Amino acid sequence: MIVAPSLLASNFGKLAAEAQRAERAGADWLHLDIMDGHFVPNISFGPEVVRALRPQVKMFFDVHLMCSKPDMLLEPFAKAGADQIIIHAELGDKVAGLIWRIKSLGCKVGLAINPPTMISEAEPYLAQIDLLLVMTVNPGFGGQPFIREALPKVAQAWEWRQRRALGYRIEVDGGINAATAAECAAAGADTLVSGTALFGKRNMKQAVSTLRKAAERHRRHMVVPTAT
Ligand code: DX5
Ligand code: ZN
Repeated sequence: MIVAPSLLASNFGKLAAEAQRAERAGADWLHLDIMDGHFVPNISFGPEVVRALRPQVKMFFDVHLMCSKPDMLLEPFAKAGADQIIIHAELGDKVAGLIWRIKSLGCKVGLAINPPTMISEAEPYLAQIDLLLVMTVNPGFGGQPFIREALPKVAQAWEWRQRRALGYRIEVDGGINAATAAECAAAGADTLVSGTALFGKRNMKQAVSTLRKAAERHRRHMVVPTAT
């Protein structure tokens, strides 16, 4: 189970210290939400901030682009130290080219789907991606309530992965706390983004461990067909 605290919920006045707090808390990845004020009704931060954070921590940088025109941002984020770049399936016919471009920049590639978007929109790309992000809130802001209706998409992603012997991770993002993480893990999620429920806690180490344990207890396991 990978736990990825979302820096969006941190104190922006001391970003590096907050990133280090996540690392000391035992988080595996740092989730970096990039918002352009167009694809979503909010603005967060850009590649220069990511570049400044890169030498401060060793964590894997999971960069989530909620941007209408990610084309011009891929190279700046790759150069700034992104390990993985996630783009949105809602970009339609731009997706195939963006996936190729992210890979050619030497980064892992993720594909995200918003709550109203059908998972069939992601299906054509499953063999090319390292991660499928099933959004469990409408992106734009931290601290929103979990949208349970997204869970069947997590289950479908898990079943496709098993049936087709693919290797993408299944990530969930939005309203994730110990209770909702358990539900997501039971449906097949293996990568948990969580902002408010981690950065909002004074004892983040305990919060990371509670989240991880709740999800691991409910984790959906591979079904190995038995010969009879
Ligand atoms: C939502 C972002 C999330 C957000 C999650 O637009 O993609 O990563 O920060 O925050 P919480 O866990 O507070 O819902
Ligand atoms: Zn995110």
